[in-house]
Amino acid sequence: MGGEFIIKFTRGLFLLFLLYFSGYSWGGDKVAGEARYKKTCINCHGPAGKGAASYPKISGREISYVTSKLETYRDGIEIGPNSGLMIMMAKPLTDEEIANLAAYLKDAKYTN
Ligand code: HEC
Repeated sequence: MGGEFIIKFTRGLFLLFLLYFSGYSWGGDKVAGEARYKKTCINCHGPAGKGAASYPKISGREISYVTSKLETYRDGIEIGPNSGLMIMMAKPLTDEEIANLAAYLKDAKYTN
């Protein structure tokens, strides 16, 4: 009886541990996302993804929304009239960069 409990308890701990770390990497790294955003994206989409002129606002969106848009552009598929620009920007992005950018943009706020 006692031994069985220890095994179940240890297995439970192990699963929690796995969940914690996998959730961490799936969730994307906001800090890395912000750094990546400031390298190129900011030039068109403005500070914190607030949008500018014909460049859409991209902050405050669901992670799945931004992720699927970026993957679509990366695949070279046109969504709107100016997709050519975004296809060029999304081509070099890795899955990890997309996850990080989406995590950052979800809660990015512009304050001046
Ligand atoms: C050269 C200017 C430019 C740069 C740099 C740029 N974008 Fe864009 N982005 C656009 C334009 C223009 C669109 C609208 C394209 C269309 O018509 O499909 C767009 C669309 C998007 C969309 C889809 C918005 C929506 O709601 O449909 C996302 C998400 C996005 N950009 C993210 C990014 C990220 C992340 C980066 C940096 C890796 C980036 N963009 C860099 C110009 C740019």
